[in-house]
Amino acid sequence: MPSDSEHWDRVFLQTEDSSLGWYEASSSQTLALLGLIPGWEESTIFIAGAGASVLIEETLSRGANLVINDISVEALNRVKSRLSANGRDVVWLCQDISRPIQQPLPEIDLWIDRAVLHFLTDEQDILGYFENVTSVLGSGSHVLFAQFALTGAPTCSGLTLHRYSVDELSARLGTSFTLVSQFDYIYINPAGDPRPYIYALFRREL
Ligand SMILES: C[S@@+](CC[C@H](N)C(=O)[O-])C[C@H]1O[C@@H](n2cnc3c(N)ncnc32)[C@H](O)[C@@H]1O
Repeated sequence: MPSDSEHWDRVFLQTEDSSLGWYEASSSQTLALLGLIPGWEESTIFIAGAGASVLIEETLSRGANLVINDISVEALNRVKSRLSANGRDVVWLCQDISRPIQQPLPEIDLWIDRAVLHFLTDEQDILGYFENVTSVLGSGSHVLFAQFALTGAPTCSGLTLHRYSVDELSARLGTSFTLVSQFDYIYINPAGDPRPYIYALFRREL
């Protein structure tokens, strides 16, 4: 089954936030990595596939500006209704992140992707994703990944995954990015099953 908008719209129409297989009440692992970036609270963050994540409120409330992308209009509608007045500093985008971004964007300081990239299994789609990362991010910016690790489950949401090592993330980003920090994290999903993730923060030097 392809990772398309209909699939994700169905998921978000049928499932409450806390029952989503990747739900977390706090984005504490992501926030721990953000803490390594001086002044990240003033940055403009691109969220590659936001879903219904509380990371949105957790970053907005600390002062960040957001570009919130998702392939699912249902996911975006859910977040929009949650944010109401607090959504004033948000740019909304509804697109497949493996395709070129056509909409003009503000300057992006930080790209965050938890559990989106690993749904891209076609090599052309993965290449398209990394072309977006490298065209959006300039020197001094950061990219934060949280993806299923090589030891992780092979599927999620009924879809086959491409699981990641830090080495592969690093190789795909290219030599203009350096690794700032990484750690393994075992997320326990709402069904109580362990889901090993790799977290990695990179900085663009050139
Ligand atoms: C597993 S959920 C993770 C959501 C969120 N990042 C989180 O941590 O809660 C995957 C999200 O990526 C979105 N998505 C899947 N494929 C995508 C694509 N090709 N482009 C943009 N978003 C995509 C889905 O709609 C969904 O919201």
